[in-house]
Amino acid sequence: LSSVEVDVGQVAEGQSITVKWRGKPVFIRHRTPKEIEEAKAVQISDLVDPLARNGNLPADAPASDTNRAAEGKEAWLVMIGICTHLGCVPLGSQGDYDGWFCPCHGSHYDSAGRIRRGPAPENMHIPAYQFVSDTAIRIG
Ligand code: FES
Repeated sequence: LSSVEVDVGQVAEGQSITVKWRGKPVFIRHRTPKEIEEAKAVQISDLVDPLARNGNLPADAPASDTNRAAEGKEAWLVMIGICTHLGCVPLGSQGDYDGWFCPCHGSHYDSAGRIRRGPAPENMHIPAYQFVSDTAIRIG
């Protein structure tokens, strides 16, 4: 299947789920206000990778929290759950930036999925997707 539809109506604030899309894990996280606030407070100039890596935006879009979160629904983050170092699957709600931690070689991602410390060179990638209703996301 080239696209999948996911109902996120049961994913409470602070929770996340992992779905499969084209054989890859996709993390869908319903972020808390604190997580959003932390991500918004970061300056682009402090990021390892300044690009949004968002398949819904131009390739040169900056990695602001707005450009990482779902359009018009800033609580939601949808991204391919593969570490941009060597491809392990990072662990959620871990690491030093309230985001993800990759145990393979110690990459820390923040609550917008941006690489903050460790060997990974890029933010986790965001696939093309859209909310097709208030609670349903179509990926791909
Ligand atoms: Fe994630 Fe190396 S694969 S840090």
